[in-house]
Parts: sequence; structure tokens; C-alpha cells
Amino acid sequence: MAEHIRVLLSEEEVDARIKAIGEQISRDYAGKQVHLVCVLKGGSFFLCELAKRITVPVSLDFMSVSSYGSDTKSSGVVKIVKDLDESLKGKDVIVVEDIVDSGRTLSYLMEMLRDRGPRSLHLCTLLDKPERRVVDVTVDYTGFHIPDEFVVGYGLDYDQKYRNLPYIGVVEFE
Ligand code: IMP
Ligand code: MG
Repeated sequence: MAEHIRVLLSEEEVDARIKAIGEQISRDYAGKQVHLVCVLKGGSFFLCELAKRITVPVSLDFMSVSSYGSDTKSSGVVKIVKDLDESLKGKDVIVVEDIVDSGRTLSYLMEMLRDRGPRSLHLCTLLDKPERRVVDVTVDYTGFHIPDEFVVGYGLDYDQKYRNLPYIGVVEFE
């Protein structure tokens, strides 16, 4: 089945929005150091662009989780595939994600990270599909609210493809 990618958010729109979020975070964390926790692999492109736009001191750490479920639907049972290298104790942490869909992965993850004793813990996502929410999650910084469509690009994949697109697109099947 051939697939076609329709542009939903252009490279310019995404970059401008990330710049604005970076400025917002820089204001909100004035006088502090922010510890960005990236959820691999999807969050990695957003993390790099966002980190470059933050003007307070930044440290980074990475983790990888897998949720048991089909490709396009998560179950909410999250397994840590790669854990963080550093402790979160006393740090001002922002979790950086590509997308919040059902909210299952993030609600589980945020609860788990809160137990590790950060001084503060917030969530920043590039994309949010509010219509799809099943579990409540507090999102502190959102790039874009998008409709209920399967998107790729800027770290998001379809069958591990298209993560490297510099824009957000919708997968259409011909
Ligand atoms: P949630 O637990 O349902 O919120 O699942 C979030 C995860 O599902 C994201 O981190 C993505 O890996 C994946 N996901 C959800 N929607 C999309 C999409 O439209 N495109 C690509 N991946 C998606
Ligand atoms: Mg993800």
C-alpha cells in the first residue's frame, strides 16, 4: 500500500512555535537550571530544537519506554527499556515528549518520575490530540493541538519511518 504524506504543520510553523515555547520556559525558569528528560525516540528532535531556544542553564537526560499494545494504540502498561542516567532528586524537571494521545503512557510515566523526588516536574509536548484522551494528564507546555489523525515527522514515526521529516505530516494511504 503506497502512502502519501500531507503537510499539516510546516517546518516554519513548527520552528516558530518551538522558539516561543523555549522563550516561555526561559522566563518561567529564570534563575534556575532546567533538567530536560527526553522520551526516546520520538521526543529527540523536539528536545534538540527546544533546548537550543532555552536561555537558562540546561541539562539533559534520556529514557526509552515501550508500551504494550498495537502499533497505533498504547495500553498504558509501560516498560522502561532504557532508564535515565542521573537521579532526579531536587531537580527542576521538564519531560519532553513528541505527542500526548490517549495519555496512558504519560500519566504512568509522570507518576513514576514524581516518585524519584524532583523539586518540580512539568510536561512539555510538541503535539496534543485532546479528542483522544482516555487518562487525564496535565500538560504544562503544548506546541500544537491537532485533530485525531495519525501524524509523522519531527521524531514521530509510522513503522519507524518519517521521523526525520522537518515538518509534521498526516499519513494518507492511496
Ligand atoms: P498515549 O499513551 O496514547 O498518549 O501514546 C503516546 C505515544 O503513542 C506517543 O509517544 C507516540 O509514540 C505514539 N503515537 C500516538 N499518536 C501518534 C501519531 O499520530 N503518530 C505517531 N505516533 C503516535
Ligand atoms: Mg513518544
